Amino acid sequence: MPLVDMRDMLNHAYHNNYAVGGFGLINLDFLEAIVTAAEHCRSPVILNLVESHFEHFDFGLIMPAVEHAARNATVPVAIHSDHGTSHASAVRAINLGCNSVMMDASLESFPVNITQTRHVADMAHACGAAVEGELGYVGGGEGENAAKYPGEGVYTAAEEAKAYVERTGVDCLAVSIGTVHGRQRGRTKLDFGRLKRINDMLGIPLVLHGGSGLTEEQYHKLILNGIAKINCYTELSDIAARTIRSNLQPDTGKGYIETMLGVRDSLREQIKLCMHLWGSAGRAAEILVQCRPWQPVEHVIIYNTEGVSTQQVEAMIAQGHKSLSVIPGVRRVFAGWAIAEPARYRFCWLVQLAHANVIENYHTHPEYRTFTKQCFQPITHDKISISFVANQPAVIPDMAGSASAISSRIIYNGGNSL
Ligand code: 13P
Repeated sequence: MPLVDMRDMLNHAYHNNYAVGGFGLINLDFLEAIVTAAEHCRSPVILNLVESHFEHFDFGLIMPAVEHAARNATVPVAIHSDHGTSHASAVRAINLGCNSVMMDASLESFPVNITQTRHVADMAHACGAAVEGELGYVGGGEGENAAKYPGEGVYTAAEEAKAYVERTGVDCLAVSIGTVHGRQRGRTKLDFGRLKRINDMLGIPLVLHGGSGLTEEQYHKLILNGIAKINCYTELSDIAARTIRSNLQPDTGKGYIETMLGVRDSLREQIKLCMHLWGSAGRAAEILVQCRPWQPVEHVIIYNTEGVSTQQVEAMIAQGHKSLSVIPGVRRVFAGWAIAEPARYRFCWLVQLAHANVIENYHTHPEYRTFTKQCFQPITHDKISISFVANQPAVIPDMAGSASAISSRIIYNGGNSL
């Protein structure tokens, strides 16, 4: 169960004066370090997948590992797609397993930012996912020298922020108050007066981007003024790189494993430090009791066909894969034939939905309607269609261990629908 609704997690942080770390991860060393640090500290944690990093690793390939780590953690975890730039990338993130998305249209004009963010928020909320927006502009680039990116940040205006939140429906807001992404020279000057005004007007969890390298006093004041999520990547990237450089001194022709030795440990220690500094350490138990778990739904359809050839059934199944898998919140589409003959039912669909909220959107989506009306219903009869949600935490079996049985309960009976 420890994959939880990020809204509940951040609301708890916001009302209890601490911040949850959104740690950027780019490989398994980062993933393991973040989750182990959270376990050591009994802290909630957010796994950040930053869209601009997807050119350096395969998002689709890493997500099963990220979800596995989150579901098997004993502390509350949320999986967040960071700095998404389009509706399509938000749909992809949710379908791959993120339960929170950021729409970053902060470089657009105010009305365009609102329109694009609202579009993503409507879709994501219909899938049960949390949504972060950004108003104002936090400059720089994660993991790099901020000075490499010319152009000023744009500070968030409190009055605009209120209108933005009302019109977009975002659950939390990234604000620009003086931080930048990446390394900054000298001490960062933060506009606490501005942050206080924004917090007083909005009353929702605020997000700090460019969260690396501030002082203890600054973090403390940020949290007291509404920051409930702090994004951090540059500090982690620098620590990993420093460890690798020191492993190469002297360079005695070390191989990959020796070169990377200690990276995970140094990352874990830094993350633990952040969790203590930001007050999230020791909060896991309260959140586990108070937060809604994030559970997928298994939609099961068993059916027979009538008066059609095997080729026609195959064509219908191929079209079903194509049509259903593009629907927001559809995580997996499986079509099967009974192994043993004769069987009471010969065919099945197993459609995994990200969350119970998806059910309504799924059944009203134009792709679903066209497919069922034109391809599925005309050749099928004798259908049973039921949606199940696990009534126990879905524990993904460990590679070394055995699978634990997952029992389930029916949450919806779709009758004759697909
Ligand atoms: P840093 O570059 O300061 O680590 O910030 C990362 C970030 O804000 C990602 O969204």
